[in-house]
Amino acid sequence: MIEITSKLPHVGTTIFTTINQLARAHNAINLSQGFPNFDPDPELLELVSEAFKKGHNQYAPMQGALSLREAISEKIERLYGNYYHPESEITVTAGATQAIFTTIATFIRPKDEVIVIEPAFDCYYPAISLFGGKSIPLPLEGNDFKMNWSAFKSALSPKTKMVIFNTPHNPTGTIWSENDMLQLQDILRGTNIILLSDEVYEHIVFDGEPHESAAKYPDLVARSVICSSFGKTFHATGWKVGYCVGPKYLMEEFQKVHQFNVFSVNHAMQIALAEYLKDPQHYVNLGGFYQEKRDVFLNAIRSSRFKMIPSEGTYFQLLDYSDITDEKDTVFAERLIKEHKLASIPVSVFCKGDYDKKFLRFCFAKTDDVLEKASEILNSI
Ligand SMILES: Cc1ncc(COP(=O)(O)O)c(C=O)c1O
Repeated sequence: MIEITSKLPHVGTTIFTTINQLARAHNAINLSQGFPNFDPDPELLELVSEAFKKGHNQYAPMQGALSLREAISEKIERLYGNYYHPESEITVTAGATQAIFTTIATFIRPKDEVIVIEPAFDCYYPAISLFGGKSIPLPLEGNDFKMNWSAFKSALSPKTKMVIFNTPHNPTGTIWSENDMLQLQDILRGTNIILLSDEVYEHIVFDGEPHESAAKYPDLVARSVICSSFGKTFHATGWKVGYCVGPKYLMEEFQKVHQFNVFSVNHAMQIALAEYLKDPQHYVNLGGFYQEKRDVFLNAIRSSRFKMIPSEGTYFQLLDYSDITDEKDTVFAERLIKEHKLASIPVSVFCKGDYDKKFLRFCFAKTDDVLEKASEILNSI
């Protein structure tokens, strides 16, 4: 072996892999990782198959198929009122993960500070450290995970280069309100801080609440790269197709890195997605679809010993187990798999900073039979 120095010495196998292995070994019902156990719409699968047959089998344009960029531009303008130019302000990426990684690679230099709102999706921190940035974890507060805006203000420094935030929020299932967005906009006004807005669950919001995209707020638009994921929207996480949008001056820099990072993304999928996006019914009803699943799950465990605040968005539900045990969440999650055959994700793995709450995250993007079996187990604890 030659001598190497790991660039990510503290990163091991992700918790998702570990939990999945444990779930398999114990034949557990798996509500841990965030993906549906059902297929995309057959109409979309048919469009993909047609796109392959029509010969979209060579490199797509670096920025993404133009028809898809046009469809994305129309969707955002219709939903959030801001026009992104398909030629210069939109890039199709290999999932939101690549959009996030490339945004960080493009803008973060050694010693730049990045505010990461916690609990935080797992791909943010390693990317920041790979490019020499310094993460500043900022916890959401209370059992309802709200932003403390004066703590946010205090976390900013002259070295702050970026803020990463995520609404609807994985893992807590909370969404940011208009007031939150206005606060964010006000605090960032006049700074040189880029906002990396992770909006992969933009179409999964419940109870009639709107999704507050950064694209609705002009001062945020001017400083934001906004990411989304067709994997989440169309039950196709395995395709790894997503996109990001931003003003031209940010997108130009992003694409300089993107072209040497992946160059371009799966062409046939893009052609199919462009066609499928023409009908807004394919995504505007997604919130209702997942709200039903949330309600099936929550109604079934209403008399259990777990406490819950209904998820406001995403396909995740946190359950508070503090009436059952004092165990740390990682310990309880492991015991739940081994003794009760049910897999979830402990929320502490989304945190670098201090965290000692008693929540597990359950993914309800599952068919009703699976949700029922999981509920029976939760009711028996
Ligand atoms: C908050 C958040 N951001 C980004 C991603 C990554 O999305 P993709 O699968 O499109 O790479 C996920 C996936 O779970 C997520 O939950």
